[in-house]
Amino acid sequence: MELKEALLKRRSVRKFTDEAVSDEYIDELLHAAMSGPSACNKTPWEFYVIKNSEKLAAVKKASRFSRFNSPLAIVVCGNLSRALPMQLAEYWIQDCSAATENILLRATDLGLGAVWCGAHPQARVVKKIREVLDLPEKHVPLGIIHIGHPAESPEPRDQYDEKRVHFVE
Ligand SMILES: Cc1cc2nc3c(=O)[nH]c(=O)nc-3n(C[C@H](O)[C@H](O)[C@H](O)COP(=O)(O)O)c2cc1C
Repeated sequence: MELKEALLKRRSVRKFTDEAVSDEYIDELLHAAMSGPSACNKTPWEFYVIKNSEKLAAVKKASRFSRFNSPLAIVVCGNLSRALPMQLAEYWIQDCSAATENILLRATDLGLGAVWCGAHPQARVVKKIREVLDLPEKHVPLGIIHIGHPAESPEPRDQYDEKRVHFVE
């Protein structure tokens, strides 16, 4: 698939078939994630891949906006022990966001469906995910990506709005 097509085709998918996502596809998604840019190439990310049905159910319960029937979730975490110092530390959020978008685009490319569900900065959601996954102190969940074979197909969409573009002379 051409990148332009994937960009427009990537939509949030919240309904999935029962078919499992193959390990080969999971590997592709993780390679895409870690191809992303990060400030000073610190790569301050960790990816928790969840297929186990009990863990999956528990992770889904962590947020009321994250209760979808996906057979797979990847929790994208910042690793604060790899983050930049001082006020630059918060770049981990942008780094992990870039990795997340890469997963969404590669999922689209592979014919999978996915939706990004936010965790940080929702303290309660972060706490619950921490408990379920028994995360180390330095791993902060930025989001849960639900992934599976799609059972719905939102239309490709171009949200371009010229009023939001400011050409500076
Ligand atoms: C940081 C972030 C957090 C999000 N959290 C949720 C969520 O908790 N639950 C959900 O169903 N969708 C969530 N979404 C998906 C957005 O609702 C979705 O991207 C937006 O409505 C645009 O639709 P599209 O993805 O189909 O283009 C989130 C997206 C982002 C980027």
